[in-house]
Amino acid sequence: MSRKVRRLVVAAPILFVVLATLGAIASYYDNRGGPSAKALPSAPLRELGKAHDITVGTAVDDAALRNEPGYREDLAREFGGLTPENAMKWDALEPQRGSLHWAAADRAVDFAGKHDMTVRGHTLVWHAQLPAWIADGKLGAADLRQVMRDHIATVMGRYKGRVRTWDVVNEVVADDGGLRKSVWSDTLGPVFVAEAFAAARRSDPKARLAINEIGAESLGPKSDTLYRIAKELKARGLLDEVGFQSHFTLDGVPATMRKNLERFAALGLDVAITEADVRVRDPGTPEQLAVQGEVYADLVNTCRAVARCHALTVWGFTDRHSWIPESSPGYGSATLLDRELNPKPAYRDFAAALRRP
Ligand code: G3I
Repeated sequence: MSRKVRRLVVAAPILFVVLATLGAIASYYDNRGGPSAKALPSAPLRELGKAHDITVGTAVDDAALRNEPGYREDLAREFGGLTPENAMKWDALEPQRGSLHWAAADRAVDFAGKHDMTVRGHTLVWHAQLPAWIADGKLGAADLRQVMRDHIATVMGRYKGRVRTWDVVNEVVADDGGLRKSVWSDTLGPVFVAEAFAAARRSDPKARLAINEIGAESLGPKSDTLYRIAKELKARGLLDEVGFQSHFTLDGVPATMRKNLERFAALGLDVAITEADVRVRDPGTPEQLAVQGEVYADLVNTCRAVARCHALTVWGFTDRHSWIPESSPGYGSATLLDRELNPKPAYRDFAAALRRP
């Protein structure tokens, strides 16, 4: 065997190993969501949404915002709006009466200001995540009414001009269409809803005021009651927008969602999708994740189909930080990016639905 052939025989396997290794690193990097994977065929979601006058936003996890540079980078690149997931809830802001904790909420609002993102303030009056000194129901009506008014004035006052839309009241309608039982309805009666909005309008006349609801995306008793409340608030000049949370499963977008949103728009109100996620039973097979992508695309198409749908917020953008595993044991994979911040079919279908002419 000539020297040249011998050299080739020795070199070939080494060359093979080198090329195979380089290939593995490149695909790993791509799979890890390195720039090449992130440089998706489309523009960031926020740019695609802008083309349709839709602010594409996300709920923001405070710990991830503090500790994860990759999370911050994706957040700023992909989203034109943010909602503090928990930082503006009453239990986070005022765990003890009079003791106010602003750091986490300030972090989110500051980040939004730095990255030209609008902020959705979530949420001023809700039955959940209340501090014990309110939730225990020991405050009398006059005291609780004043506490509610003061809270609204204090929180909205701090972020005046920096929070575009406030979820003034969250989830007030029960699934059967009645008023949800809460310390607010028990102590103040149904009038607390209008009182909260009146206080909000006084606190920041320039802010947009929204009522936000879970499970009212389709036509039915729950959205009928929400419609009646919205109509009354609108007539009093107290409401600008209705938020439909849109926490879905692979069953998909309700068939009557577009019709439902259109009737609220016909009242002269904006509508928004405020907390979209699509939970999948663990471990989330490729087939299920493909269907998930179709559901997200349907949701984008629903918002695009309703002229007054100007905002679509996902409830977290990575499976690494999603409330679903805790709230729905056995379910997960509910968001657009996987735990390593790589795009899932959901991201690609969401983007494609925005790109569609
Ligand atoms: O703050 C405490 C912390 O001190 C403690 O160490 C930790 C461990 O137990 O719990 C922390 O509180 C958690 C809180 O989120 C803040 O992280 C609660 O346990 C946890 O239950 C709570 O979950 C939030 C949930 O609302 C509560 O109902 C989710 O993160 C949040 O995504 C979810 O968001 C709501 C919207 O605001 C309204 N629409 C429905 C949506 C899901 O419920």
